[in-house]
Amino acid sequence: IDRMNVAIDGPAGAGKSTVARKVAEQLGYIYIDTGAMYRAVTLAANRAGIASGDSEGLRTLVARLHIRLKQGEQGQIVLLDEEDVTEAIRTREVTLRVSEVASHEPVRIRLVELQRLLAAGKGIVMDGRDIGSHVLPDAELKIYLTASVGIRALRRFKELKHDGSITLEQLEQEIAERDESDEKREVSPLICAQDAVVIDSSELTIDQVVALIVDLSRTKM
Ligand code: C5P
Repeated sequence: IDRMNVAIDGPAGAGKSTVARKVAEQLGYIYIDTGAMYRAVTLAANRAGIASGDSEGLRTLVARLHIRLKQGEQGQIVLLDEEDVTEAIRTREVTLRVSEVASHEPVRIRLVELQRLLAAGKGIVMDGRDIGSHVLPDAELKIYLTASVGIRALRRFKELKHDGSITLEQLEQEIAERDESDEKREVSPLICAQDAVVIDSSELTIDQVVALIVDLSRTKM
């Protein structure tokens, strides 16, 4: 095969997005961050005053929303009804509600449809929670990237530049809660696909993980 699809799944903070972006760069593929799509829906729900438990409200909302991903100079740009929300979807407000919003079937059906369309032409590196198990079950290479919760919290903590708004313990707690709701939800939960290669990044650098995945992809070509 000359072009394939690579699926990268795993819990929050395992380094999926950085790794996926770099793998895509090295393979000359397009990187698609599906978490950003769930975040965009969550932002829209917050703005519209729709509760994260309101399934019907969310169904109506996703039916009319227009989410688009664009490749910018600095990486992926997320457009919500043509507004650039790349930064706005990263706030704590969104992060705290996204797992519940993402647990609703109408939301997932709509976004998965979009994700499959984006991957139809191959040459995609897609990261998320259910990519190898549900969105792209035929992906040629599936990676399940994980790390201990302590390490994942510490990495996120460093990213936040110690602005004092949250302690490491709080962050660890929030990550553990998000893992739990992603793993326990009824509709396509976070699970490791049977044919996925598991990589524990606790003791590896980003570049080591990237090299590992690029090597694995070469064995498929
Ligand atoms: O990857 P990120 O941490 O930005 O994802 C935010 C949230 O979106 C996850 O915690 C999860 O609840 C949801 N998500 C999902 N399925 C995906 C990607 C993300 O449910 N494929």
